[in-house]
Amino acid sequence: MEPREKLQTYAGPSPLQNGLFARPVVKSASPVAAPERRTRILAVGGGKGGVGKTFLACNLGAMMARLGKRVILVDADLGGANLHTYLGLDFPDRTLNDVLTRRLDRVEDAVISTSYPNLKLISGAQSVLGAANPRHDYKARLARKLRDLDADVVILDLGSGTSFNTLDTFLLSDEGIFVVVPEPTSLENAYAFIKASFFRRLRRAATDARIKTLVDRVADGRVERSIRTPADLLSAIDGMDPRAGARLREEVNRFRPHVVMNQVRTVEDIQIGFAIRKVCRRYFGLDVDYLGYVNYDNAVWKAIRKRCLLLTEYPLSEPVEFLARMAKKLLEQEGGDPVITPVRVPSGNRQGTG
Ligand SMILES: Nc1ncnc2c1ncn2[C@@H]1O[C@H](COP(=O)(O)OP(=O)(O)O)[C@@H](O)[C@H]1O
Ligand SMILES: [Mg+2]
Repeated sequence: MEPREKLQTYAGPSPLQNGLFARPVVKSASPVAAPERRTRILAVGGGKGGVGKTFLACNLGAMMARLGKRVILVDADLGGANLHTYLGLDFPDRTLNDVLTRRLDRVEDAVISTSYPNLKLISGAQSVLGAANPRHDYKARLARKLRDLDADVVILDLGSGTSFNTLDTFLLSDEGIFVVVPEPTSLENAYAFIKASFFRRLRRAATDARIKTLVDRVADGRVERSIRTPADLLSAIDGMDPRAGARLREEVNRFRPHVVMNQVRTVEDIQIGFAIRKVCRRYFGLDVDYLGYVNYDNAVWKAIRKRCLLLTEYPLSEPVEFLARMAKKLLEQEGGDPVITPVRVPSGNRQGTG
């Protein structure tokens, strides 16, 4: 059966109606009151190269900008920055590297305007020796500076892979969005990234050297038979020090990655997102939010070739509809309740874009 036919025959219950898209319960013991004005930092990463991280970062950002938020996109792919091209800009004269190498004092000075209202950019440089691997304290400071930017939302477009560098940037943000495509290699990458960020977050939060060592041993697979999963690890830490256990559990519960399935062609592809959620809950004890999916559509690469945003170039294409749904959901999650909109399965490429 052709993928297109399969899509059209899907008539099952809406995953949204089943509550599967509902916001995961954050089991924090001490709810923190939201500060008055706060720049929200989202990082898009997790996938291998070519899955659509940059495409999603800039189109989600543009969608939020259209919904009235002041958005700054940050090209944090320090090895292969190309966000500016997606936005139709020539290589900018100011980049994030200038901030990292202190050529620019203030991160605000690296912000450049785009032709899209409410949407600004901090560009990345293409592979400047050394700068692609900034030190941790530098990155932590950068995260603080990004939070001080005059914006509602800052979206970081990360590089590929699970290097410490990418992971740290991912973990320094408020929320991470993993982009996955329905291919085994991409799934392997996603699990590796989720696992690596889970352990790295736990290790950073641990204060006791014994617990740090245990986390390292489990992360490296050098473990006692009793600790098979990260959930087992938390129980073991509880046994060593119940207060540390409770604190680390809270840290884990605050880590709420979103998953986006990109380039879906069939209903089965869409369902992979639910499977990821299930695996993460069972194996990591982690509540992953399946933010949504975007269908494979020729309009995507056509817009990129024209150096235009999909949103403005093909406003009626299906991916735009899915992007809008995700952007609204993200913005509503900030306020509390999830957006419940009926799910519709993509029907393949629209005429005029195929
Ligand atoms: N939903 C989609 N439909 C069709 N093509 C897509 C889609 N998402 C991504 N692509 C293709 O994948 C390419 C790589 O996307 P990009 O966002 O640059 O990947 P990454 O940043 O993850 O390396 C794009 O140039 C585009 O051709
Ligand atoms: Mg990219």
